[in-house]
Amino acid sequence: MSQENAEEVGKNVTKLQAAFRGMIARRRMPEKPKTVYVPTSLEAIDSFLKLAQVHSKDVVLDIGCGDGRVLREAWKQSHARGIGIELDQKLVDQGKSDIVEDDMANAVSLHCMSFNDPEAVALIHAASVVFLFMLPELTAEIAQLLLKHAQPTARVVSFIFSLPNWTPDAIQPHQEGISNLYLYSLRKQKMNAADGDVGSDAR
Ligand SMILES: C[S@@+](CC[C@H](N)C(=O)[O-])C[C@H]1O[C@@H](n2cnc3c(N)ncnc32)[C@H](O)[C@@H]1O
Repeated sequence: MSQENAEEVGKNVTKLQAAFRGMIARRRMPEKPKTVYVPTSLEAIDSFLKLAQVHSKDVVLDIGCGDGRVLREAWKQSHARGIGIELDQKLVDQGKSDIVEDDMANAVSLHCMSFNDPEAVALIHAASVVFLFMLPELTAEIAQLLLKHAQPTARVVSFIFSLPNWTPDAIQPHQEGISNLYLYSLRKQKMNAADGDVGSDAR
């Protein structure tokens, strides 16, 4: 990784950590929920696609997809269809216009909703690969939704933040000592959950 990219990743991690501290502070002072958008770099998207071995029969779901760049890249590189769920309407609008511009409207769809909306269940179930780049505050709830609604054959990759109490099949260093990509097979997590095994948190 170039020095410039390393600095960029470092800045993004710091931004997310600051946002996380902000969310903890807001728990004491409830206000309108805020979203934090930090796009994943092309380099990290490449690592994700390789780590999950994304291929043309896959349906990739990005939970908290921002402008859908991960999904557009998955289509460009692997011809995998994509579904995005994003709370921020402006990001969804921008992403939809990029999708049309890139002629991917038949391959990638973005949905403005929260991952815990009832309408998200069918989208979670449709995925064969799930990508996450979410604040740790939200990953526990997402992990429960995946255990409940995703297909047992699904692969899940979480960027930077590991999923609490899930045991990764592989950890791909993105920037040594700063960020990783965590690969999980859902079947294994479902079995651990059924056994009451809390697994090990890799973070
Ligand atoms: C760190 S960004 C990652 C963006 C994108 N996945 C990427 O990698 O480029 C996290 C995104 O999750 C979205 N988000 C936060 N809470 C959400 C929720 N409850 N439902 C859907 N999206 C959410 C934020 O608006 C933000 O765009």
